[in-house]
Amino acid sequence: MASSTALVCETQAWKDLKGHVEDVNKTHLRDLMSDAHRCESMMLEFEGLLLDYSRQRATVETMDKLLNLAKAAQLSEKISRMFNGEHINSTENRSVLHVALRAPKDAVIKADGKNVVPEVWSVLDKIKDFSEKIRSGSWVGATGKPLKDVIAIGIGGSFLGPLFVHTALQTDPEAAECAKGRQLRFLANIDPVDVARNINGLNPETTLVVVVSKTFTTAETMLNARTLREWITTALGAPAVAKHMVAVSTNLALVEKFGIDPNNAFAFWDWVGGRYSVCSAVGVLPLSLQYGFSVVEKFLKGASSIDQHFQSTPFEKNIPVLLGLLSVWNVSFLGYPARAILPYSQALEKFAPHIQQVSMESNGKGVSIDGLSLPFETGEIDFGEPGTNGQHSFYQLIHQGRVIPCDFIGTVKSQQPVYLEGEVVSNHDELMSNFFAQPDALAYGKTPEQLQKENVSENLIPHKTFSGNRPSLSLLLPELSAYNVGQLLAIYEHRVAVQGFVWGINSFDQWGVELGKVLATQVRKQLHSSRTQGAAPEGFNYSTTTLLKRYLETSSEQKM
Ligand code: F6P
Repeated sequence: MASSTALVCETQAWKDLKGHVEDVNKTHLRDLMSDAHRCESMMLEFEGLLLDYSRQRATVETMDKLLNLAKAAQLSEKISRMFNGEHINSTENRSVLHVALRAPKDAVIKADGKNVVPEVWSVLDKIKDFSEKIRSGSWVGATGKPLKDVIAIGIGGSFLGPLFVHTALQTDPEAAECAKGRQLRFLANIDPVDVARNINGLNPETTLVVVVSKTFTTAETMLNARTLREWITTALGAPAVAKHMVAVSTNLALVEKFGIDPNNAFAFWDWVGGRYSVCSAVGVLPLSLQYGFSVVEKFLKGASSIDQHFQSTPFEKNIPVLLGLLSVWNVSFLGYPARAILPYSQALEKFAPHIQQVSMESNGKGVSIDGLSLPFETGEIDFGEPGTNGQHSFYQLIHQGRVIPCDFIGTVKSQQPVYLEGEVVSNHDELMSNFFAQPDALAYGKTPEQLQKENVSENLIPHKTFSGNRPSLSLLLPELSAYNVGQLLAIYEHRVAVQGFVWGINSFDQWGVELGKVLATQVRKQLHSSRTQGAAPEGFNYSTTTLLKRYLETSSEQKM
């Protein structure tokens, strides 16, 4: 067993896996896939959700060795410590309890000795009450009109998760019915173009602005909040803020200082990481305003079902654990630095951008949790697009260029089925034909011999050859309901945690985002003094000085 300061790469289990790579390199997925017994052992079902990881470059022996690695990394203990509310985010001295955000009312989950579930539910009840008032029109704006449109201001974890869930629910029939006549928009970027896009076509009289920020200090969010406050007060007068602006934050003192009535603030807690906050008021408030609390509650229940599965299922059948271990295998042993997230569902178009933050901000680290330099890389480069769009874009590289493990995500039922009389298949079947075909194309490839049999001309054979042996996994959901969206979210959240636990890093801090913020402060000060006093840029290197001079000389201040 690894001691707390030992690196996981020093364990025998890690070394065994290193040695095992040679064995796996002797195999080809074409052959691995012909072993039905192996494939059967690599399929898992949970509540109708089917995971098939038989197209990973892994044998039954690989899986045993990965489970040994889990033991050596004390994965089980680390998962328990998370659920028990221990301060596993040691560099920020915080618990990591996003699981409490979706726990049933009668659950007991403690942070610092206190059951946090009643607090969670008191905020959820407040959201339920507030969102019903807004949706029913019993809460009206400054001129007496109901508020039918919502702009949620926030960035990073205060934006990407809610946007992903909103996009996923938009075309779900039940959610769409509940959202009739309402709009939910997201303002994230400090680029004023994003403000213009958000307010375009909206009337301040009928708009509610939700300022979402864990810290309530994030530069982009606060300037955007001041910008929309100006938009509201210019049109409706200063007192309108009380009716048209609410907030979600852990920093209620700053919310009040900003001018938002504390009664209209929705709390969350420092044991919720920003990128893990979609199940807190961060996501639940805007989503409940749009879809109603009962739809959002189903999303929370879906996430909770995976929390329970993750906490109590033996590792050999535990979806997030197996996915996390396979990611470690791909990154640390097979040496694949990237991963493509490929949902065959347009409703999941914002899933990859959300998981980019969850995964890359969590696991892109250079030192162990004890501060030791890591002699191996952690994290992976995540990107993705919905199929089939991606097929007509970057799949060329995935099929014949670099090897990129792919996650294929599909649904049995479409949210919006279409079948045209006379067509060979329904539109969803057409989409899913690709979902089923692509993993095999990657795994099997196409050999020169096959091409010769097809009478392909000799000069084209190298170009038309597919090496195959490219790993993927398939996740088939019964449908994309609010419940399944919650499940999908929690699977990926826990998978990322598993990877971090095995690598022995802190997946819950994000010091890497700080330096750029500090340097931007220095530039902001310079821009201010140059604009107001004509001061020349000072204290920057040659490159930045030249760029700043060019920017200052050729731009003039613009007012909104
Ligand atoms: O980019 C860094 C970060 O701190 C993220 O971790 C976080 O999700 C985002 O900024 C927004 O932070 P806040 O919710 O405090 O505005």
